[in-house]
Amino acid sequence: MTKVESLFEPLPFPCGAVAPGRVWLAALTNGQSHDDGTLGDDELRWLARRADGGFPVITTCAAYVGADGKGWAGELGVDDDRDLPGLRRLAEALRARGALGLVQLFHGGVRAPRAVTGAQPWSASTWTEDGADFEPPRPATEDDLARVIAQFAAAAARCAAAGLGGVELHGAHGYLPSQFLSRVFNQRDDRWGGALANRARLVRALVTAVRAAVPAGFVVGVRLSPEDFGYARGLDLDETVEVARWLCDDGVDFVHLSLWRVERDTAKRPGEHALPIFRAALPAAVPLVAAGAIWTAADAVATLERGAAAVALGRAAIVNPDWPRAVRAHGLAWEPRRPPLTPAELAALDVSPRFVEYLRRFKNLVA
Ligand SMILES: Cc1cc2nc3c(=O)[nH]c(=O)nc-3n(C[C@H](O)[C@H](O)[C@H](O)COP(=O)(O)O)c2cc1C
Repeated sequence: MTKVESLFEPLPFPCGAVAPGRVWLAALTNGQSHDDGTLGDDELRWLARRADGGFPVITTCAAYVGADGKGWAGELGVDDDRDLPGLRRLAEALRARGALGLVQLFHGGVRAPRAVTGAQPWSASTWTEDGADFEPPRPATEDDLARVIAQFAAAAARCAAAGLGGVELHGAHGYLPSQFLSRVFNQRDDRWGGALANRARLVRALVTAVRAAVPAGFVVGVRLSPEDFGYARGLDLDETVEVARWLCDDGVDFVHLSLWRVERDTAKRPGEHALPIFRAALPAAVPLVAAGAIWTAADAVATLERGAAAVALGRAAIVNPDWPRAVRAHGLAWEPRRPPLTPAELAALDVSPRFVEYLRRFKNLVA
């Protein structure tokens, strides 16, 4: 098998499901859902186009599991049975194209602002930040935690009922589970804070509850930030490795490392890359997925060689909806298109004006 062919090998999960390949579409917020959280037509087109282009696993944008966790306008909802018809349409579209559909389950915690939810945000603890729009969160009560655990479980069950292949719990990027893992944001002195085992209690409870709520063969993965980046603060590489190990004990089907720059070594130990560290620490049966500035087939192959079983593409997939097909046809020689693209060029790739508006907040994507 050539190195490029390894990108197209099926990938079995511990639950028994098999992903039909190893180049995944990463979760990408696109703002195309209706105000009530139901799936938008443009959102369906954007995802189906990537499945047409050969992406074997399609992850939705971050999707809120409860109204108090919604992070922004136009976010997909999985918090209510009213979402089911849209989720069913998505599942059917992806299945018809041979792709496995994953819904990314999300709660924003402090990043679910009152302007969106109508209520004060809550998190592990309370704190202040600069910025006129920042409202200090209230510390979670036991009721909040019981509720959010039930919401993740119900959302996953809804995705399964709709016919989707699995879920990815968003434990990365400084959203609710990541806020609890954080040594900075989590200042609790009860069983949900302090020692790592306590800070990890929420994400572990979410995985356990989700697993118990879905049928056999339904994929349950988790996305983690190994170290600080952006909103993710107070994370330590070795602690994240320990958390990932526990989540494997709890039955996750994959651990997805959000690296932002996959070619970079860890901040904590320059000279060492996160992938071999996690690979050595986790059971061999649990695949690692990695994302972060993977553009070319050579980038993807190098990431597999470092220990990932699959790669997830974000920006490269926005501007190259046919990335897997093109690499399959032309191999390492194929050069992907690079941004910036004009709104008209993006529209031709099923990136709607609303999505284009969202993309403008990222440097150099939209011309
Ligand atoms: C427009 C955009 C939206 C994103 N939305 C999400 C999201 O909803 N959930 C998530 O976990 N990551 C999100 N990310 C991060 C990507 O999944 C990915 O990890 C990151 O962009 C790095 O990969 P890339 O360099 O291939 O884009 C987003 C990134 C971009 C550019």
